[in-house]
Amino acid sequence: MSQGKKTKTEPDSNKGEDKAKKSRGPDTVCFFDTTLRDGEQAAGVNLNADEKLQIARQLARMGMDVIEAGFPASSPGDFNCVQTIAREVKESTICGLARTREGDIRAAAQALAPAENARIHVFIASSPIHMEYKLKMTPAEVLEQARAGVLLARSFTPEVEFSAEDASRSDPEFLVKLFKTALEAGATVLNIPDTVGYALPQEFERFCADVIKAVGAPENVIYSVHAHNDLGLATANSLAAVKAGVRQVEGTINGMGERGGNSAIEEVVMAIKTRKDFFNLRTNLDTRRLYPVSRLISRLSGVVVPPNKAVVGANAFAHEAGIHQHGVLAKRETYEIMKAEDVGSTPAVMVLGKHSGRHAFRDRLEYLGYNLSEEDSTKAFELFKKLCDEKKEATDGDIEAIISDEILSVKPEYRYEFKSYSMRVGGGTTTCSVVLELNGVEKEDSASGHGPVEAAYAAVKRIILLHPSLVDFKIVATSERSNALGEAKVVLSQDSVRAQGRGASTDIVKASIRAYVNAVNRLYATAAARKITLTTVDPGPAKKAAEAE
Ligand code: KIV
Ligand code: ZN
Repeated sequence: MSQGKKTKTEPDSNKGEDKAKKSRGPDTVCFFDTTLRDGEQAAGVNLNADEKLQIARQLARMGMDVIEAGFPASSPGDFNCVQTIAREVKESTICGLARTREGDIRAAAQALAPAENARIHVFIASSPIHMEYKLKMTPAEVLEQARAGVLLARSFTPEVEFSAEDASRSDPEFLVKLFKTALEAGATVLNIPDTVGYALPQEFERFCADVIKAVGAPENVIYSVHAHNDLGLATANSLAAVKAGVRQVEGTINGMGERGGNSAIEEVVMAIKTRKDFFNLRTNLDTRRLYPVSRLISRLSGVVVPPNKAVVGANAFAHEAGIHQHGVLAKRETYEIMKAEDVGSTPAVMVLGKHSGRHAFRDRLEYLGYNLSEEDSTKAFELFKKLCDEKKEATDGDIEAIISDEILSVKPEYRYEFKSYSMRVGGGTTTCSVVLELNGVEKEDSASGHGPVEAAYAAVKRIILLHPSLVDFKIVATSERSNALGEAKVVLSQDSVRAQGRGASTDIVKASIRAYVNAVNRLYATAAARKITLTTVDPGPAKKAAEAE
């Protein structure tokens, strides 16, 4: 375990020069990102097409080997996202998920058609409990489905991944038979998922090693691991599988995913890099992009990264205890095993202020992963300057907040714009008046509630005449400073349409209203895309008359 005896670390960075065909030698661990598919299954997460494309671009920029962009047969929205990403993102292999059903595989093939390098990911469950209760199939039927599915997928793409869902709870003998069947049908990647996060690292290492040995490892076929984090062991299990010979690790950034989440890519890659003395393996990832990509995904998904999260948490490189600070100042390695720069987190403490110029601001946007048009970047710079008038300095969090709030919101045809609010408090209730603008016309209404946010939301509802339920509401500070922006996140649902919105301001009521209005705009946009008409509330005769004037 000696850290002193480290092997010289090869730069893992590919500096964005490689195209999708990256090194796949036996000493390379490839990464397969499923943030946009498995990650998006996390409760309350709903990314729209633009957001998914932004994320895919940044994953590709980081050197991600494979991006699982979605499950095309699951919905027209998913189909379109996979197709768009396949068309726009050329630096990574783009993958679409499919059950072994013919319709799923054809949908995946069609969505992936524009990709330069495409992979169809076919899966079927292999554990006794899944076969009996979920699939209601015999093992023989599962073998036949797998064979037919992989065969069909191979008629569309040269790369086909086969996953045996719930592999870790499967009978190893049956799993070997299933993998051999998939291999004969043409699978090029064999994935061993620990679907329910049940495995334990030592046991899983043996399990994977035994399966690989029994199935065999023909040239150009790679084994993969896909671990879930129900027992907090996803990273450990992924690394155990790597030790057993697996050369593709599947996971998500920030470990996002349903239940306890998926394996966190940033943790696995940094373990391989930091403990090169143990693994002696390399990756194609530019780890300096981990932190900005983590921030972007957290912001777009609304899933907050805990401060103590390994590698990308706000405190991952912070030393509070005096004795630690003293040690780090004397020699960094006394308490730090990784460099903050290696995960791209150092510049986050860099603060832009009143005197920062357009150039520095643009560099910062670029670093944070934004690729804005000339017009948007000028608008962003003006907003940044305005913010600096209010609070002197702007952190990364502040910049990201104003951009997602003011620049990357939805198309104008659905756009209510928040103009102002005023508040009156008395007699145990708060009354709030809100002014919104729609297509150049200002609309004002007021309502009462137990607190300022409740009153403001009631007033907004009276203007928009919708009746959405508030599914989630959060407000967080963009930094630890007392003058931080408050960033609100709201999730609304109406008529089976769900949308989230964000809003930022130094005034938290303003931030909350902005987030609500942003969610309303997205509700309209999503409903229109799904051809759903949102039901409206009758405004009542008094309001009708007032509006008519
Ligand atoms: O967890 C799982 O088993 C999956 C498969 C589709 C690979 O997500
Ligand atoms: Zn999964």
